[in-house]
Amino acid sequence: MNLNVTIPSSVGEIPLKNPLMPAAATLGNLIEHARYFDLNELGAMLPNSMFIDSGSPTTAKKICKTNNGFISALSKNNMSIFEFKEEIIPYLPWKTTPLIIDMKATDMYQMEKLAAAINDIKEIKGIEINLNCPYGPGTPYWQNSEQLKDLVRRVRNAAPDKWLIAKVPGGDIPVEQISTDCQAGGADAVTSYSSLNGSVIDIYTRKYRCGGGGSGGFSGPAFKPVGLLMCRRAVAAVDIPVIGIGGISCAEDVIEYIMAGAYAVQVGSANLSRPDFMPRLINDLKNLMQKLGINSFEEIRGTAQVE
Ligand SMILES: Cc1cc2nc3c(=O)[nH]c(=O)nc-3n(C[C@H](O)[C@H](O)[C@H](O)COP(=O)(O)O)c2cc1C
Repeated sequence: MNLNVTIPSSVGEIPLKNPLMPAAATLGNLIEHARYFDLNELGAMLPNSMFIDSGSPTTAKKICKTNNGFISALSKNNMSIFEFKEEIIPYLPWKTTPLIIDMKATDMYQMEKLAAAINDIKEIKGIEINLNCPYGPGTPYWQNSEQLKDLVRRVRNAAPDKWLIAKVPGGDIPVEQISTDCQAGGADAVTSYSSLNGSVIDIYTRKYRCGGGGSGGFSGPAFKPVGLLMCRRAVAAVDIPVIGIGGISCAEDVIEYIMAGAYAVQVGSANLSRPDFMPRLINDLKNLMQKLGINSFEEIRGTAQVE
């Protein structure tokens, strides 16, 4: 049995040991997890989402657990890309496991600058554009096809050496249009969704429990059928590889996403359940493939049929 996947891209084939990578900002800065498992077990490494400069602590409530999922609104809680390069990268197994950075920015010019800075960091294999851009006030670029293509094109030109992934935002979005615009702008792959939006109220204080505006991204197992549908729709819309995401909490979920046509998957809030969730999932996936008689992901990719 073979867990490898090879993802075609404009910068050459991207070989992964397995199709599993953490979703942005759900495995900290990675290095904290090295004491729980060998990071080399991952298909690819994705740390905290990054702005070009570092954030500072605030008193805002950033994460809230609900039944079957989480509401999160981390905003600018990251270390800068330059600090990450100096303080973290030397301790990561980037030579043997691709390192990908999810990029956040206040506008497309800042995103372009960040991409150019990352292009100079040889240890980083890929970049993921967080399409919630612009972060902060302003109309999201994805709402305007020309602006979205412009954003992706700028990043493509600023980082010609990197595997370029675009992460579709959350909420109620036209995944087909966003994915095709990203492909037209020069993206190598699309991560098919981010999260739903949600709110939770603390009935004792009568206050919303998370996020500056009282809401945040809603992710976790309850959202898997939505994530799977977004993945299926993105796969149908584009010719570039799709990375599935949303609510993955067991090996069966991974197989579903691959059968919907994904090349790889990102696992988010399940990592908050225990720090060694990823290697356990990889192991479960091997056992499940054996049980189902699946020899490779090629064999099952996109094979789900409508009855
Ligand atoms: C605590 C937490 C923080 C997150 N922060 C970010 C972020 O900064 N940038 C981003 O692109 N996605 C962020 N996400 C979204 C995840 O990357 C992922 O899209 C989402 O959790 C869906 O996957 P899941 O259902 O497997 O959790 C965050 C999710 C969680 C749970």
